Order: sequence, then structure tokens, then C-alpha cells
Amino acid sequence: MASCLILIGFMGSGKSVVGRKAAASLGWDFADSDPLAEKAMGMTISEAFATRGEEYFRSIEETVVLDLLDQAAAAGVGMVISLGGGAVTIPRVHQRLALQPLVVLLDQDFDVSRNRTQNGRRPLAADPVRFRELFEARQGVYRELAQFTVDARGKSVKGVVADVIRIARERTQTT
Ligand code: S3P
Repeated sequence: MASCLILIGFMGSGKSVVGRKAAASLGWDFADSDPLAEKAMGMTISEAFATRGEEYFRSIEETVVLDLLDQAAAAGVGMVISLGGGAVTIPRVHQRLALQPLVVLLDQDFDVSRNRTQNGRRPLAADPVRFRELFEARQGVYRELAQFTVDARGKSVKGVVADVIRIARERTQTT
């Protein structure tokens, strides 16, 4: 079975950028759940929250992530999958992630996450109090699911990508 490395972490931790670069270096496929959910909904995540509500978005996100995990399991090449920061809170996604051997948490500083999410594209980043509550509330589930944690604090994207690649190589050589 081909390897599948899944990046989890809070909004603004760098999952998409790091995932894309790590996949390119490894020669693996890359998939990002947010743009796939937007494609499936035919609207942006902000529009979905505003017009249909968070529950609707989570139902689409669930389908997208479960499909991606199925695809990765069937694929002949390795795959890096970057998940939206809240995907881990969806019960069926959580159950599936708990069975995955290569879940990597990008651990980022609160202030960096906050600064990177001020472009209006993330509905759950609009309210600073809610954003902080979510940041704190999610730490437990991220740590529960991750076999590896990359400390991204104060590190360049290049450095974080190098850490992720090292984990992928070590893990796939020995398994
Ligand atoms: C969310 C994270 C976002 C996106 C949506 C909700 C969350 O993805 O899925 O805005 O609940 O943490 P990123 O983590 O890629 O920003």
C-alpha cells in the first residue's frame, strides 16, 4: 500500500503550503481538502458558512476527506493530504484518522496563526475571541491524533517542509 501523510493543525499553521512543497520534493501526489470542498459546494467556504451554515460545510468536508483517504489507500503513489483545521472535529473523520499511521501535526504559534488568517477567507477567524477559544479547544484533539508533531514556531517554511519530508522518509523506509 502506498504511503499517505496527513497534515493536521490549526488555521494558519501552514498545512497547504508545506503539504504542497513536501509532496513535490517527495514525488508524491498532493491534495488539499479546502479547495476540494469549495469545488464540491460550488462556492467559497465563507459563502457556505454565510448562506448554508457551518453544518453544511462540515457535511461536505466529511465526504471530501473520507473520499481522499479512500483514494490515498487505493493509489499507487504516495500522497500528502492537507486537511482543513476543523476536519478533525468531524466524528467519522476523527475515527478514520485514528487508524492512519502517518498523521503529522504542524504546531504553530497562536499569533502567527492569527496574523495569517486575517484575509477574510476564514469565517471562524473573524471573531478574535472565538478564534482563541477554538485554538485552545482543538489542541487536545490534534495531539491525540498525531503520531508526529512538527514544531513550526519560529521556523521558515523551508525548515518545516524539511521536517515533514524527514518524517515521511523515515516512516516509509521502515514500514
Ligand atoms: C476551519 C479551517 C479552514 C477551513 C474552514 C474551517 C476550521 O481551513 O476548513 O474555514 O474550522 O478550523 P484551514 O485550516 O486550511 O485554514
